[in-house]
Amino acid sequence: MSGADTSSLTNAQVRIHSVINRSLEVIKDSGRVFADEGAYRGPLRPGFIAYVRSFASVLYAHLLSEDRIVFPYFRDRLPETPFDLMRAQHEKIVSWLYVVQEELDEMEYDPHPSESLALLIDAAFNLGQLWYPHIVHEEKVFNARALANAVTPEEDRLLIKLMTDHCLANSGPDYLVVPFILYSLPPEERISMAQKLPPEITRLLLPGPWKQKWEVMAPFLSA
Ligand SMILES: [Fe+2]
Ligand SMILES: [Fe+2]
Repeated sequence: MSGADTSSLTNAQVRIHSVINRSLEVIKDSGRVFADEGAYRGPLRPGFIAYVRSFASVLYAHLLSEDRIVFPYFRDRLPETPFDLMRAQHEKIVSWLYVVQEELDEMEYDPHPSESLALLIDAAFNLGQLWYPHIVHEEKVFNARALANAVTPEEDRLLIKLMTDHCLANSGPDYLVVPFILYSLPPEERISMAQKLPPEITRLLLPGPWKQKWEVMAPFLSA
């Protein structure tokens, strides 16, 4: 099979990985500042909680879309790839993600959440220890050349749509995860991604009724 030199699926995967990478580092860094300065009692707290919830939702949806759509699609086309091992790595990443969410729940209702915050940071660190080598391998497997030989441009476009729709259907709420993704990207990537979204979202909802819900995350988002 022949295909384009650059695959949109490759680009889309690298892009969403970069969103997770940035937010993971923001969570670890902000969490440490919160813990050291006791700022978790201050006005940044609701934004941090919304930000970590968005991170958890987007990461979980990304892993699920790979398990359900991408890996099955390529199982026969890239037969050398250890998909079972990669799925097992997802499960381990998710097990730390559950700890992040549990500690976030604790933190939300505890007026002095220093212990849950410390455990959350610890879980984010452990998650990152698994996440980073996983995506290095994954981006090698799904590099543009490999995909150009494995799928046609039409299949590539179909896959990107299936994956995006699946991701959006399994993450939420929209008013948090859409700005979370867009504002975790550098400006030029953000513009490119925003152009693929319905104008109703980018022109009406995002700067309008959604804004009062997501702008609490602004201190943690990219300018
Ligand atoms: Fe993965
Ligand atoms: Fe991935």
